[in-house]
Amino acid sequence: MTKNIIITGASRGIGREMALELGKQGHNLLLLARDEDKLKSVCDELKDSNISVHYLKCDVTEKSEVNDAIEYAKRLMGTIDIAILNSGVAGSGYFKDFQSDKLRNIFDVNVFGIAYFMEGLIPIMKEQGYGTIAGVSSLADLRGIPGNAAYCASKSSVTFLLDAARVELAEYGISVITIKPGFVKSDMTANNAFFMPFLMESEEAAKIIVNGIMSGKKRIAFPLPMVFLSWLGKIVPSTLFEYLIGLYGKPINQ
Ligand SMILES: NC(=O)c1ccc[n+]([C@@H]2O[C@H](COP(=O)([O-])OP(=O)(O)OC[C@H]3O[C@@H](n4cnc5c(N)ncnc54)[C@H](OP(=O)(O)O)[C@@H]3O)[C@@H](O)[C@H]2O)c1
Repeated sequence: MTKNIIITGASRGIGREMALELGKQGHNLLLLARDEDKLKSVCDELKDSNISVHYLKCDVTEKSEVNDAIEYAKRLMGTIDIAILNSGVAGSGYFKDFQSDKLRNIFDVNVFGIAYFMEGLIPIMKEQGYGTIAGVSSLADLRGIPGNAAYCASKSSVTFLLDAARVELAEYGISVITIKPGFVKSDMTANNAFFMPFLMESEEAAKIIVNGIMSGKKRIAFPLPMVFLSWLGKIVPSTLFEYLIGLYGKPINQ
């Protein structure tokens, strides 16, 4: 059945690939991000798909722009069946040069960029009596990883928010999905100077996420070996974890 779907961060990377996959499957889409040219090019790629596909510039750190986007989606599509909240940034930096502004920026996009949408979407989905909120967290939510502290902290917040919301919102017919990818090739990882085990193509990651959402999964974590490593990282004693991650977390050129 055709669904009306919002995707944030649809201009590049995993979000773009999810938009292409969902468009090919025949769903109606509203694509959101800041880069309008890139959003337009995704819409152009889908112009022969016989679906309703639109885009809107939306900075997810601006609550008013998020509310405008939700309003536009309602006017455009009537219902909002699925919202894939995928926008995200990395770039935590190192504590020797710590800047709290970087931490704030990462939280603004990764955490509040999801929270603003949840605030706007929950009343709409409650009224509809159904809806799916799929938030993109990360397998990096396991602990504070050196060089990635702000990102890990933001993604653990995202995971905790989504996991609790899933339990609370079930009685309103709202499904909340927690999505935790491992390493995926995209602009976000292009300049990482450290080894990224089990690195995946963004098309493949997008297909796994889309299939998981469409088949009603509550948690989507992949690839399996990284899920195992992330779980192991959580359960090993902290002293051992900090020793091992201290070796791994140092970029090759530092
Ligand atoms: N790549 C990985 O290894 C990996 C692993 C685990 C989880 N993830 C998560 O997967 C999601 C997608 O990441 P990706 O790898 O596809 O990264 P990417 O290629 O860098 O894409 C990031 C997307 O987020 C959007 N975005 C950034 N700031 C925004 C803002 N202020 N307002 C609206 N949109 C904004 C960007 O669009 P504009 O710049 O046009 O606004 C872009 O579409 C993120 O949440 C990321 O944390 C990625």
